[in-house]
Amino acid sequence: MRMAPNPAIVFIGFMGAGKSTALESVPDALGEVIDIDQAIGHQVGMSVADYFKTKGEAAFREAEESLTLSALESAEGGAIALGGGAVESPRVREALRTHIVVWLDVSAGTAWERVASSDRPLAQDRARFDALFEKRRPVYEELADVIVLAGGAPALGPIALLADAPPGTKMLYATSESGGYPVFVGRGLLSRGFGLPHSGQSFWVTDTNVRSSYGNYVDPLATFEIEPGEGQKTMDTVHRVWREMVDLGLTRHDRVIALGGGVVGDLAGFCAATYQRGLRWVQIPTTLVAQVDSAYGGKTGVDLPEGKNYVGAYHLPETVIADVDMLRTLPVEELAAGFVEAFKTALLAGGPLWERARAVESLDSTALDDVVFECARYKCTVVAEDERDSGRRQVLNLGHTVGHAIEAATAYGRYRHGEAIGLGLLAALRLSDAPGLRDEVDEILRRHDLPTVLDPAVDLDAVLDALQRDKKRTAAGVGFVLLSEPGEPRTGQLVDPAKVEAAVKELYA
Ligand SMILES: NC(=O)c1ccc[n+]([C@@H]2O[C@H](COP(=O)([O-])OP(=O)(O)OC[C@H]3O[C@@H](n4cnc5c(N)ncnc54)[C@H](O)[C@@H]3O)[C@@H](O)[C@H]2O)c1
Repeated sequence: MRMAPNPAIVFIGFMGAGKSTALESVPDALGEVIDIDQAIGHQVGMSVADYFKTKGEAAFREAEESLTLSALESAEGGAIALGGGAVESPRVREALRTHIVVWLDVSAGTAWERVASSDRPLAQDRARFDALFEKRRPVYEELADVIVLAGGAPALGPIALLADAPPGTKMLYATSESGGYPVFVGRGLLSRGFGLPHSGQSFWVTDTNVRSSYGNYVDPLATFEIEPGEGQKTMDTVHRVWREMVDLGLTRHDRVIALGGGVVGDLAGFCAATYQRGLRWVQIPTTLVAQVDSAYGGKTGVDLPEGKNYVGAYHLPETVIADVDMLRTLPVEELAAGFVEAFKTALLAGGPLWERARAVESLDSTALDDVVFECARYKCTVVAEDERDSGRRQVLNLGHTVGHAIEAATAYGRYRHGEAIGLGLLAALRLSDAPGLRDEVDEILRRHDLPTVLDPAVDLDAVLDALQRDKKRTAAGVGFVLLSEPGEPRTGQLVDPAKVEAAVKELYA
């Protein structure tokens, strides 16, 4: 990022994305606020729609480019909302590079609902509207330093932080029913303390492995350290963490910081959700599993002997700081296990993410920045539509039904989470009648030294019993996520139990 000394926050996005509305929440202290459409209206003495109609699009674009460039060139901080088409000008795109560009990403359907009844000249015909949307979307994407998901309204404080971020840091602003939070993905974030909120007391939860590499960043007087591994994700540990929080006198003005993988995140998040009925919490995910998946969406919880993640709460984090540099110390087996969650996301997303993930030849933390960011974006987009797992979010369970059953049947000790999910993906693709895709996934798992065959010592009946206790079970049976083509998952699919048994048995072959 080549920021101006005092960059402006510039909102870009399609018509109806909420750019003008976003300006309303800009505090005076941030500086001057300019809505380019309004500025054009003032300059030409009529509404933008009338100017467009009477003088034509070319004259409008000329006025728009000139005003936009002058606003960007003279900006000293502040915030600017661009017209939807301003980014089609190469000169505007160049001028944007020194500012913090915030793309308000909205679906074509939502945008149309918002503007269809207006007099906007480019919103009179749905087919033309959709074509323009598809044309501009990659331009917004390419320019964005921050992507605000699902038409939400971002908090500007965290966005302004980007001016001092390490180069290459990207940001999402995730929104869902119960709130929004920033997600920073970059390198060198932890060593700078970048993104960490400062108010209140911070209570760190981590594990011994993570602390041995990153212990100098935590507060030694307010840190709870667990032994590594799923075995610690229990109510017994929760109890110990709660008691420590009491001893330290933590109140609802304080926060929990989870520094670790998915185990630390789920555990610390659950403690934060429940202690004094809820404290703020920050996730600093340190494994690939956590950076591509578990750190987002606010699902927290612990295991019971009877089942994984059986007790928990939804509790959105205040901030997620994914420092990809931290993956350098991750053992290669953990990186591979984490890749399964990334790969699952790629299967769900299809398109460019799938192409990128299937082409990964060897796992190297230096090449994972984009994968981490795109997986975070996919997950946060899904959660934005369905925070409480009642619909779309269930897609994220692809491979998890059989995967979780394998973990429970082996007392969470035989396989890493991602390894079990890899086996679960194979079973899910068998149940999806997608033999070609199953073969390809099998080959990719092998390429990364991941298991594709279930250890014969794993008791088949125990796996089948665990499947019966699946949390997603309804009176009709366990609903599977199936997928015939990358990018086309189907949730809640009831499958003949005999076929399920056959798909699990096949894993022993
Ligand atoms: N909440 C959610 O939405 C969600 C989603 C997916 C998975 N999960 C949960 O995540 C858990 C699995 O997470 P995980 O795979 O991160 O496991 P983990 O937290 O046990 O971490 C794996 C291992 O890596 C070590 N480690 C972590 N970061 C390191 C680093 N930077 N350098 C060196 N070592 C490091 C840990 O000490 C541990 O030994 C499971 O409990 C699963 O249920 C939750």
